[in-house]
Amino acid sequence: MAGLLEGKRLLVTGIITDASIGFSVARIAQEQGAEVVLTGFGRMSLVQRIAQRLPKPAPVIELDVTNSEHLDTLADKVSEHVDGLDGVVHSIAFAPPSCLGNPFLDAPWEDVSAAVQVSAYSFMSLSKALLPLLREGASIVGMDFDARQAWPAYNWMGVAKAGLESVTRYLARELGPKQVRVNLVAAGPVRTMAAKSIPGFKDLEDQWSVRAPLGWKLEDSEPVGKSVCALLSDWLPATTGSMVMVDGGFHAVGM
Ligand SMILES: NC(=O)c1ccc[n+]([C@@H]2O[C@H](COP(=O)([O-])OP(=O)(O)OC[C@H]3O[C@@H](n4cnc5c(N)ncnc54)[C@H](O)[C@@H]3O)[C@@H](O)[C@H]2O)c1
Repeated sequence: MAGLLEGKRLLVTGIITDASIGFSVARIAQEQGAEVVLTGFGRMSLVQRIAQRLPKPAPVIELDVTNSEHLDTLADKVSEHVDGLDGVVHSIAFAPPSCLGNPFLDAPWEDVSAAVQVSAYSFMSLSKALLPLLREGASIVGMDFDARQAWPAYNWMGVAKAGLESVTRYLARELGPKQVRVNLVAAGPVRTMAAKSIPGFKDLEDQWSVRAPLGWKLEDSEPVGKSVCALLSDWLPATTGSMVMVDGGFHAVGM
């Protein structure tokens, strides 16, 4: 049987360890027949090494989403590997320590602006940079943590995610006429490098495992990876500007 993503050419960002959500997406996408190109930030030799653990070798392009030269040259660099793109995965977030776990009232604007640039604005920058390569029917997927409510410790990253949710809706308006879909997967907590850097996130993790109607495994990014791949496939053709909740059902219950 042909894989769900047979023949699709995908760009996947955000791999730094094999626990990264991006890694899970890239692995499942390859297993489902996709050709995957990766981008890495900063520690390129580490990302190259992690990429070797995928089922098939995948090229890695350096991308800092705050670097305009990287963004301006991205489409050309991707074109060296594939002649177009059917999907893009934005799996990128960052906030300085003052924005996470510390008193919400103490974060300076420079730190907040860095969090918003990397975690929300870059969804637009990445999409814009790759637009010349995106084929009709393409799917852009970003990674969210439900920002419709305030969480312990998540603080200014929560504000950045609320921005990301809005960016998604505006991108969906803008790119819909080109037949490009733009959606988010709102995941429950997964133990990745980014999640471990949030002091106080553990309370939230503990609650999740207990309260989610389907249960929730903090070490298992496969349900999230599979859901991203579903959005990258042709099987949600009329879905754009949406958040798909992949959280064991946590969002649906009060207690
Ligand atoms: N882990 C969770 O609990 C969880 C839950 C919901 C959503 N998410 C989201 O999933 C996405 C991936 O995070 P993760 O949990 O896999 O953690 P991770 O630490 O494995 O990945 C975060 C990635 O962001 C990249 N990054 C940071 N600054 C960058 C920049 N300037 N340019 C390009 N890349 C940059 C890092 O290199 C890293 O690869 C993030 O958007 C995160 O907010 C995570």
